[in-house]
Amino acid sequence: MSSNHIPSHPAPELGPELAAHTENLTKVYGRNDAAVVALDHVNVEFRKGQFTAVMGPSGSGKSTLMHCVAGLDSPSSGEVFIGDTPIASLNDARLTELRRDRIGFVFQSFNLIPTLTARENIVLPMAIAGRKPDKDWFDQVIDTFGLRDRLTHKPSELSGGQQQRVACARALLSRPDIIFADEPTGNLDSKSSAEILHFLASCVAELGQTIVMVTHDPTAASYARRALFLADGHIVGDLADPSRESVLATVTQLDPQSASAPRSDAASQPGAEPGSHEQPGDSRPRGARRAEF
Ligand SMILES: Nc1ncnc2c1ncn2[C@@H]1O[C@H](COP(=O)(O)OP(=O)(O)OP(=O)(O)O)[C@@H](O)[C@H]1O
Ligand SMILES: [Mg+2]
Repeated sequence: MSSNHIPSHPAPELGPELAAHTENLTKVYGRNDAAVVALDHVNVEFRKGQFTAVMGPSGSGKSTLMHCVAGLDSPSSGEVFIGDTPIASLNDARLTELRRDRIGFVFQSFNLIPTLTARENIVLPMAIAGRKPDKDWFDQVIDTFGLRDRLTHKPSELSGGQQQRVACARALLSRPDIIFADEPTGNLDSKSSAEILHFLASCVAELGQTIVMVTHDPTAASYARRALFLADGHIVGDLADPSRESVLATVTQLDPQSASAPRSDAASQPGAEPGSHEQPGDSRPRGARRAEF
């Protein structure tokens, strides 16, 4: 996969409909002297059928934005809409239902159940909801992610890339309004990253899925059709049809410090060691990590 990946066919025209949007979304952690403003009156729209990458230095609010829009965390003030539904005032039961029925998640750490096969993992959320997946749709999802010959394997019998493909298929199966992926290629080597990104882009181009993906990697962002840039809880950039070069140029413009130490992630570096993303055990102080996007 070349670094300046070009989709094999143009993305479908985007309609005016919104899969999700925020109005003055603000999230403050802690109180008084210890208060951290993670999101500061953020207004952002995610249109249906759009693939958006969210970038920004460590601590800029990317995960907080994703968690608030996905209903995993509650705003301090402001509102989040999934489609036309305002979610800030929903009670826990309604919110759980909304997340289950309308939102898909892909995490850096796959989050598969080790004792279940790939097929069982993929259908589990729908089974819990008492819903049966449409067979044609299941087949289409499985083929989109190239998983047909892996369905009877347990996660331990799959490579990291294959496990993440299972997690993506699981997220897609219920046809959610929007899929949120937080650094989905963060634990993968360059080849597996490119595969996952290609599959995610196909979901958008061929199946009309809406995806919001947090990433530190300019190459990963280049698979999206839009790149949003966060800094200190604000949206500071919004780039259409991002390429690796235009993302790097924007990062440099927004934070000249980062030019001397650009993020070097697995997907950017053919042959790079897996896991070159920030790891949970990253012991560097926040200040040392801030310049990285
Ligand atoms: N549960 C929490 N309690 C207190 N502060 C928090 C909490 N979660 C996040 N923060 C703070 O909010 C700010 C935004 O954090 P967030 O996790 O959204 O950043 P991020 O852009 O996802 O960073 P990274 O790239 O490191 O994942 C940071 O200053 C962080 O320390
Ligand atoms: Mg984060």
